[in-house]
Amino acid sequence: MATGRYMNVMLLHSVRSLLAVAVALAGLPACVTPSSEAAAPAAAREVTFFVASDTHFGVPGIEERNRRLIEELNGLPGLEYPPEIGGRVETPRGVLITGDLTDYSTEEQWQQFESFYGHTGKEGLLRFPVFEALGNHDFMGDTPVVRHITRRHGGVAYSFDWDDLHVACLGMYPNGERLRWLEKDLRSVRAGRPVILFFHYGIDGAWSHSWESQEEREDLARVLSGHRVVAIFHGHAHHAGHYRWREYDVFRPGSPKHSSRQVLAVRLRGDELAVAYRDFDRSVWTDAQVRSVGTAVAGAAGMEPPPDRARP
Ligand SMILES: [Fe+2]
Repeated sequence: MATGRYMNVMLLHSVRSLLAVAVALAGLPACVTPSSEAAAPAAAREVTFFVASDTHFGVPGIEERNRRLIEELNGLPGLEYPPEIGGRVETPRGVLITGDLTDYSTEEQWQQFESFYGHTGKEGLLRFPVFEALGNHDFMGDTPVVRHITRRHGGVAYSFDWDDLHVACLGMYPNGERLRWLEKDLRSVRAGRPVILFFHYGIDGAWSHSWESQEEREDLARVLSGHRVVAIFHGHAHHAGHYRWREYDVFRPGSPKHSSRQVLAVRLRGDELAVAYRDFDRSVWTDAQVRSVGTAVAGAAGMEPPPDRARP
């Protein structure tokens, strides 16, 4: 682990503590009431959310592993983050699930997904709102999953705001049609506001070769240019990790289908992005990444790329 980076993080915490004291002495609110258009000042920004992936309902025995995953997510608020991040996990605004909700896109498998994960945090076992992406396993046969995602969110590609953080879901991946949607969607996002994207396929490394062409990646880079994209999340690899693509930080959770059983707890506080990796089988933190999203800072030692194995 880089000592210099750790010191930078500690320095940030010290500065933030002094600011918090100054704010308290002045009698000012420590945070601003959420509002999509009335953006909070960067210093007051605090958004927490979780990311999980590849729930694969339909695989024998997967229900129990998803039940364990959900129990872990429900229990994260209040836990202390790893020391590199500091502080405690706040109640998340929601949970992003980056695709392959089902194993073979049947209605029965979707119903299982929905009965476990719910939608608004009240219908299923999970206590938080859910925002799901379409995976390749959700796009087979008559694809009822497409209809259900559209019913719940208005389309396979959709977006929403958590305070001034803009969140865009691009379904399986940003192909031509969804990229045109994204280009239009981002026109309504004021310059300087942080943006995150989530979808299913990887952009780089193993299991990232299902895009139709390299041109699509070039088009994505062009559409993102000039926007403040602070993180991209995806699934499909069934192997937790992170990497840089162009100037963007990319993070992915594991999957209950395979042995990399990790979910992400993400905190955007001011201009600092923190991503903690939580093993939901063992209930331990396994990695912590901290970035200044004003100027990118290298994180802790990177995780290994996913090994080649059977189709995710
Ligand atoms: Fe998968």
